[in-house]
Amino acid sequence: MAPSPLGRSPRVAILGAGIAGICMAIQLKKAGFQDFTLYEKADGIGGTWRDNSYPGAACDVRSHLYSFSFEPNPDWSRTYATQPEILRYLEHCVDKYGLRPHLRFHTEMESARFDASQGLWRLRTRDGQELEADVVVSGVGQLNRPSIPSIPGLESFGGTRFHSARWNHAHDLSGETVAVIGNGASAIQFIPQIAPKVGKLLVFQRSPNWLISKSDQEVGALKKWLLRRFPSLAALHRAAIYWELEARFFAFRQHSFMSKVFEQVARLYLRWSISNPKLREALTPDYPVGCKRILLSDDYYPTLERENVELVTSGLERIEGKGLFTQDGRRHEVDTLIFATGFEATSFLAPMRFQGLGGRDLHEQWKDGAEAYLGLAVSGFPNFYMLYGPNTNLGHNSIIFMIECQVRYIVQCLEAMRERELLWLDVTPEAMTAFNTELQQELSKTVWAANCGSWYKTASGKITNNWSSFVTDFDRRTRQPDWVAFHQEARPPALAAVG
Ligand SMILES: Cc1cc2nc3c(=O)[nH]c(=O)nc-3n(C[C@H](O)[C@H](O)[C@H](O)COP(=O)(O)OP(=O)(O)OC[C@H]3O[C@@H](n4cnc5c(N)ncnc54)[C@H](O)[C@@H]3O)c2cc1C
Ligand SMILES: NC(=O)c1ccc[n+]([C@@H]2O[C@H](COP(=O)([O-])OP(=O)(O)OC[C@H]3O[C@@H](n4cnc5c(N)ncnc54)[C@H](OP(=O)(O)O)[C@@H]3O)[C@@H](O)[C@H]2O)c1
Repeated sequence: MAPSPLGRSPRVAILGAGIAGICMAIQLKKAGFQDFTLYEKADGIGGTWRDNSYPGAACDVRSHLYSFSFEPNPDWSRTYATQPEILRYLEHCVDKYGLRPHLRFHTEMESARFDASQGLWRLRTRDGQELEADVVVSGVGQLNRPSIPSIPGLESFGGTRFHSARWNHAHDLSGETVAVIGNGASAIQFIPQIAPKVGKLLVFQRSPNWLISKSDQEVGALKKWLLRRFPSLAALHRAAIYWELEARFFAFRQHSFMSKVFEQVARLYLRWSISNPKLREALTPDYPVGCKRILLSDDYYPTLERENVELVTSGLERIEGKGLFTQDGRRHEVDTLIFATGFEATSFLAPMRFQGLGGRDLHEQWKDGAEAYLGLAVSGFPNFYMLYGPNTNLGHNSIIFMIECQVRYIVQCLEAMRERELLWLDVTPEAMTAFNTELQQELSKTVWAANCGSWYKTASGKITNNWSSFVTDFDRRTRQPDWVAFHQEARPPALAAVG
């Protein structure tokens, strides 16, 4: 990055080139900020949609909403586009908005230290490069680092093993005995795809999930034409999906009428889909609907009734060679082990290290669970912003829209820095405490606080990942910064002269 003399736009380092990083870069460009770089540890853009290439990978928020509001795509081929199509859409955005010159691949950020005297971040990459930026925006996601459980004997496993988010496409599963550990949103997408080709499929389920029909369809030529020809119709269509999903938030309030309705719908769907009563019982959760992510699928339940598929509900105890031993004393001989065990979702920004004002360590500050102001700023870490940070995940609507709200907010912070000649902006501890007290109070009334384990909360039960309310509420709160919530450090004249 070129040096940043005073009065010029701040230099911005964006970490990660997933949806969040791409969105940030596009909006910075639109607002006239040219000096930004997207640092990406991998060899391509797309984040989630680059890494999750398992068979059947697709979104579960309808594509006409799960896309940028400023870049509608009338040509989505399905209600829920698959991973290759979503990745193509993101590549298109990168090209259309001229982001290629700003991309640095194979650059994993390792640490960042704030230099208060200069008002800049000193960054270090994993391969030892030292970089500087006035502002750092993290777009490293919540679901980027696969989680592999520590099962005794795992290292001794004699077959092939991989995680759903690092699918081994070179490995042919045909005729093999395959074990899948986990039955979350990833597992239920690829299990129906691989079941017909494997010899035997063992699905290790620790706890069942609430599941409803997905009703995915091809988008017809007429609908595509109408959406392309009449942009206002496309906007209306998008808004209709948004409000339909938004209404679902009522189901996330504990003991609400809507949550009972959802539970009945899911129970009926299970009853209708699975004829075997024992299997049905094993698939019935004992926690409120929504406590874990509600799954959408039309082919998972039928797949479980296939001859060559077995649902294993006894806990996995240990592994010896190719043998998987369960608590009921059985030994399952398998060729391939697929982990559909999710991500290290609550350890935000790890393994990066951030040092803010006075050398304070972000992970030390977060030892009882990550928290932020509007999921995007942390007191004591000036000019540092996060996208899809703590408490910005949803169970009912599009994350892309949450990211867009945060980007809009951060751009305004940067504009204020530029216009007011600020050295830094730092959210006050009072604003952050008040925000998080209210947030946790609201979260305690939601189903996520109920008796289930999920990636939405830490081992001690603090809900660190989910937003507490309607997206509309987040949209309203992030329309423009409340400047009372920020300490604004003026650029000292000495620095101004040097700059
Ligand atoms: C399989 C799957 C399906 C999903 N489907 C939906 C859906 O239907 N609807 C929905 O709303 N949400 C969905 N999500 C959530 C999804 O993660 C978000 O919607 C969105 O893609 C997040 O984008 P992001 O850019 O914030 O993060 P990511 O897509 O995770 O991108 C983060 C990027 O940062 C890079 N990175 C990480 N660490 C570093 C570092 N230290 N230095 C440099 N680069 C780094 C990564 O390599 C990656 O490219 C899904 C998630 C998964 C896993
Ligand atoms: N668009 C989509 O359709 C889609 C697809 C994939 C992912 N996603 C997103 O990504 C998130 C993560 O999905 P995911 O399925 O990858 O992960 P996940 O929802 O966290 O599910 C992980 C699964 O692995 C099981 N598991 C974890 N550790 C285990 C252990 N030690 N022993 C046995 N089982 C273990 C879990 O069981 P327990 O439930 O008992 O913990 C769970 O079934 C989703 O919630 C969703 O937000 C979306």
